[in-house]
Amino acid sequence: MTRIDDYPEAAKSAVTVRGLVKHYGRTKALDGVDLDVREGTVMGVLGPNGAGKTTLVRILSTLITPDAGQAVVAGHDVVRQPRQLRRVIGLTGQYASVDEKLPGWENLYMIGRLLDLPRKAARARADEMLERFSLTEAARRPAGTYSGGMRRRLDLAASMVGRPAVLFLDEPTTGLDPRTRNEVWDEVARMVGDGVTVLLTTQYMEEAEQLASELTVVDRGKVIAGGRIEDLKATVGGRTLRIRPADPLHLRPLAAALDELGVTGLATTTVDAESGSVLVPVLSDEQLTAVIGAVTARGITLAAVTTELPSLDEVFLSLTGHRASAPQDAVPADTREEVAV
Ligand SMILES: Nc1ncnc2c1ncn2[C@@H]1O[C@H](COP(=O)(O)OP(=O)(O)OP(=O)(O)O)[C@@H](O)[C@H]1O
Ligand SMILES: [Mg+2]
Repeated sequence: MTRIDDYPEAAKSAVTVRGLVKHYGRTKALDGVDLDVREGTVMGVLGPNGAGKTTLVRILSTLITPDAGQAVVAGHDVVRQPRQLRRVIGLTGQYASVDEKLPGWENLYMIGRLLDLPRKAARARADEMLERFSLTEAARRPAGTYSGGMRRRLDLAASMVGRPAVLFLDEPTTGLDPRTRNEVWDEVARMVGDGVTVLLTTQYMEEAEQLASELTVVDRGKVIAGGRIEDLKATVGGRTLRIRPADPLHLRPLAAALDELGVTGLATTTVDAESGSVLVPVLSDEQLTAVIGAVTARGITLAAVTTELPSLDEVFLSLTGHRASAPQDAVPADTREEVAV
């Protein structure tokens, strides 16, 4: 997968957002958002329900206009050049947007025609996209009969018909089972391999980690953190030392010994009985050395010692004080659907 490291510093910005504001009545859906997505990279916009992710995607894809601020996508201003902008983007919305009554092939053909492709070219493109997203066998069936994963793949195919330079994916895998989620991830990775710039929103840490090189964390309409995933994890601080004694009987004595150790600032240990290891959060190299020293001094033979960076869940909790899945506020019934997660 393409990583930001593969790109020179001078890589152009495919999406530039400055001070974006959007109100819905008294709700500030976006409260001054800034972000940059470099060409050919994947930006993950991570945030809980109601954070403003869909609002951002709607503005960037010209479906709604901002109250203040600026946004430029592939060189086109969202407010002043919406028509040009629409020609170079693809959008897969949070909720499936295909026509259920129409067969998969017809859906794609129709989109090709709407994009002004001549009949022959639209036909060829529909065939090509169905093949690419492994839907050829279901081409003639109404999309309403497709499984959730097939629908999502058809959605992705639809957003690719126009060969977009920039693709917006709003929670591309919410509600999908793990296997289908993996299929969608593979497809997105392939698109990125083809040079498409992607901005995707997600509530899944794992998804951001899988697909994105950079991350913008939003909460209640504001960007609360951003940068490379590795850096974000590192700034939240703390590694977890996972220590597995060779003899499982040493597990609890080892945890007790570490708790009694009295290393300044060392957080309490957790026993992970399933993996037979003790988890110790460490902040400094000194603490790490002290812990290893104490274990060795007790003559406990170790099978494995590994250090782990915090998960994105932990990153989010530490940045916002609440878990990423916690709903933020009530949402108008007419604009929402319940999504099984
Ligand atoms: N059409 C609308 N009318 C009124 N309020 C809205 C509308 N659309 C969004 N909002 C509000 O704006 C805020 C941001 O909503 P948005 O849909 O952008 O969040 P989100 O991050 O996409 O959430 P989710 O993860 O649930 O999709 C929420 O408080 C929401 O209630
Ligand atoms: Mg949303």
